[in-house]
Formats: sequence, structure tokens, C-alpha cells
Amino acid sequence: MTMSKSRNRRIATALAIVCLTTALGLPATAQAAGPDGRSTGRCTPGAPGIGDPYYPNYGNGGYEVRKYDLDVTYDPATDVLDGVAKIKANATKSLCSFNLDLVGMTVRSIKVNGAQARWSRTEHELTVIPKRPIKRGEFEVKVRYDGVPHEFVLPGIELRTGFMATPDGATVAGQPEVAAGWFPVNDHPLDKARYSFDVTVPRRYEVVANGFLTGRETKRGWTTYEWDAREPMASYLATIDIGHWDVHKWRTDTGLPVYDAVDSAITGGLRAEIDSSLARQGEVLDVLGGAFGPYPFSTVGAIVDNQDDLFFALETQTRPVYSKYFWLDADGNPINGDSVVVHELAHQWFGDKIALARWQDIWLNEGFATYAEWLWAEHEGQATPQEIFLATYEAIPADDPFWDVVIGDPTLELLFDGAVYVRGAMTLQALRNEVGDDDFWRIVRRWAAQRDGHGTTPEFIALAERISGQQLDDFFDVWLFTGEKPASPGATTAAASRAAASADDKASEFARQWLAKTSERLERSRR
Ligand code: TRP
Ligand code: ZN
Repeated sequence: MTMSKSRNRRIATALAIVCLTTALGLPATAQAAGPDGRSTGRCTPGAPGIGDPYYPNYGNGGYEVRKYDLDVTYDPATDVLDGVAKIKANATKSLCSFNLDLVGMTVRSIKVNGAQARWSRTEHELTVIPKRPIKRGEFEVKVRYDGVPHEFVLPGIELRTGFMATPDGATVAGQPEVAAGWFPVNDHPLDKARYSFDVTVPRRYEVVANGFLTGRETKRGWTTYEWDAREPMASYLATIDIGHWDVHKWRTDTGLPVYDAVDSAITGGLRAEIDSSLARQGEVLDVLGGAFGPYPFSTVGAIVDNQDDLFFALETQTRPVYSKYFWLDADGNPINGDSVVVHELAHQWFGDKIALARWQDIWLNEGFATYAEWLWAEHEGQATPQEIFLATYEAIPADDPFWDVVIGDPTLELLFDGAVYVRGAMTLQALRNEVGDDDFWRIVRRWAAQRDGHGTTPEFIALAERISGQQLDDFFDVWLFTGEKPASPGATTAAASRAAASADDKASEFARQWLAKTSERLERSRR
């Protein structure tokens, strides 16, 4: 509620400013001139949003970023970040001006292709006006900026996210809002790019980020950590985490390099549980790889901060960020937290490799990541996905508000509602029952292997129909686009009914406990 109000205000501000520039007589289009003064065709301003109905001013139009080189110095004593962002991009048309997303921070200078540029700002938009129009094709932007990074608050629940200063450094994680709080960015998963980070901190701090650590150098009391994220990545998946880390570098049995960073202040029984989950990452990737196809990236690992007011985990690419609370029960006793590692690693396929093109399709991320937890339960001999599916279907009565959520278009307020996770996973099991195991796994693997690295719900439905040869509109309408409990759990294959019939008490008990734990966890992260 509060969220949508402030968003509307933001949009209204943006509109007012567009009207203002027009009133001042700035031309909306102009004749672009080449270095020889000859006309190179008309230029137009890049759009201030990429076209996402849920977040109209997120991302921008007219260009695509290829690489961000972020060179930032962060002083935990003042929380001030001093940055130079070098952005290599491709203009998709001739641009008189273009936008980046940046919230807070002070911009000191901007160069486009080496020449000073002018700029203007609103709460969320940084409009860059180069001396000369940018020609279609490659261009480079260099932004110098500084300030205390902007933190975001999760809609309705008043939780910190984004670039969060901690007592011993900083943790960077948020979804969808994080990147624009600490660097100028085309802030939408539709525009993936490569990243390199040069992060300079006082020498007693250490930095971990996405990808590979490629250099470390200390000069005059400050250490620069160079991190390189080689595979294209959505902006909300970029993370730099500053603190005191116990680093564990190792390789999985298949030779994948792992870099785990656990806050040195986490010790005792809690630390033992965390370490035991992280030690199983190779096994988790084997199980998930067996189901989804090869792990999509060149490294993996974890970042577990001791931050007391961090209540979520995030699938930051190659290196998820985890709240320590996934390994603590409500009374503060250490517990097994393997399933959150399974969840975040599953997002490496669904969310990271195959990213959203629109935020409303979030069930594709959360449904698959939750389904992966069910696959893991099966691997552990606890219960099958079908057993958990049926137990969940039976446990939630038709009048429970759980079923009201239209997970295929959940609205901004309910983007991360528990139903998006649980009904999302149920939709996948119902699909499996509808098309049979062989076609289901073919669909899933084909989805995970899409070349362009994006997918929408209509594309997923089309793929499922193509592979199964079935007409699935009604099926998906019931599961994704109806705010009601489906009248029956749906078609059941012979194998699935055999499995369900043999569901022993232990399995249904596990399924009920899974649901209780998941609801509690989602509830807790909502407080
Ligand atoms: N995508 C995260 C997960 O499922 C959870 C999440 C939802 C989140 N909203 C968030 C994380 C906001 C950080 C900020 O693992
Ligand atoms: Zn998730």
C-alpha cells in the first residue's frame, strides 16, 4: 500500500519533469550530426523505462549494457561510497539523451565517449545528455559519484534491503530494488551484462562478490579486491559484501570452483550447521543438474553474513547471500538449513540463467526454486514431490486467502507472497501429472537451456504445449490465472497415483512439516 502510493508519486514526479523539459523547449528529437558535420539521421531520447508494467520506470530504453566496470571505495566508518562506474553499452538507435537508474548518491561528472556530458535527475532517473548525439552502436559512459548508498525497504514489511551498512562492513542484496541504490544502472533483468568490481576498503576489511577473485592489493592502508563476474547477469544479482570472512575455497567432485565466505563472528553450533549445508553444495548441484541440465556458471559459493536484521536469502549470481536465520529455529537453536541452499542454487538456473523479462512472471523463479526443495526432499528419502503436492493441496482449505493470489499476475504488493512460491511449485507438479514425467522433464530442461536467457509465462506455456502436444490453456488458467483453489489436484499419472497410494505416514508427516516450516519462514521474513 505505502509502496504503491510512493511509486505513484515517483511516477507523477517523473511525468512532471518530462513535461517541464518539453515546456522549456528542449527538442524531443533533433538532427544528429557526425564529426564531419554531416547529418547521421534523427536522434531521439531513450525511454526512461524498459516497459515493465509493474515497474514502469525500471530499466531504460534505447540501449543495452554489455559491461559494468565498477570501481568503488567504501569506508565502513562513514558508510560513504566513492565510485566510478564505467559502462560499455550498445545504442539500439541514435540517442540525443538516455537514462540510467540511480537513487540517492551525488553525481560529480559524466563522460560519454570521453566527452563531458550534462545530466538531470529525478528520484529514480538519471538523464544523460551528451554533447553530441550517440550513434547507433557501441558507446561508453563514465559516471563519477559518491554518497551513502540508498537503502530500500521491502513493500509493506519495513525490512532493510539493498546496500545495507552493517556493524562490520556492508551486505548488498535486494529484489528487485538494490542496484540503483549504489551504482548507475539499466536496472531490469531484461538487460543482463557482465560485471567487474574493484572494491577498495580499509585494510582490515575483506570483500566478497560474484564470480572470481582476480586480484588483491594493499596500498597505504587500503586494500583493493578485484572481482570478475564473467557470465552475463541481471543487475539485482550483483553483490559486494564487506566484512570479516572465513573463506573456504574448494572444488566440487566435478571440479567446479567454490568460494564460500562465512562471517567470522558466526561460531559454535550455528556455524557447524551452516558449514555442513555449504559442504553439500556439490551434492546439491549434482541433484539439480540431474534434473535441470548442467549448472550454468563457472563458479559457485555462498555469503553468510552475521547481520541481525537480514531475514532473507537471495540468489545473487554464482554466490547467494544467506541470512543466518535459515539455520536457527524460532527459539534460536541451530537447525539443518540445507533446503535454503537448494532453493538459492536452483535459482541459478531459474532466475539467474533464465531471467525474468517482466517481474509479474516471478512464479517462474520461485515456483521452480521451491520445486527444487521438493526434489531434494525426495533425494533425502523424506517425501516425493507428489506427496508434498497432495499434502499441501489437502492442508489448505478452499476459503484460505492462500488461494486468492493469482500467481501469474500477483500485483506488486503480492509479488513475493507465499502463494507465489508454494502454488508455483504445485503448478509444476500438476503439470508433471498432466503431461507425464518424460515430457515434463523435457520441458524443464528445454526451458533451462534457452539461448537468450529470458522467459515469460506465455513462452513457458507455449513450450509446454509444443513438447507435450497438449492444449494446456485451461490447465494454466486454473493454476496461474484464477484466484481460487483448483477443483481437484488434477490429472494423476499411473506412477504418481502409485506413489501417492504408497505414501507412508512418515512422508505425509514430512510434507505437512515442510508446509508449516515454509509458511513460518515466509511469515517471518514478512515481519
Ligand atoms: N528471491 C529470494 C528467494 O526466494 C527472496 C526474496 C524475495 C528477496 N524478495 C526479496 C530477497 C527481497 C531480498 C530482497 O530466495
Ligand atoms: Zn526464491
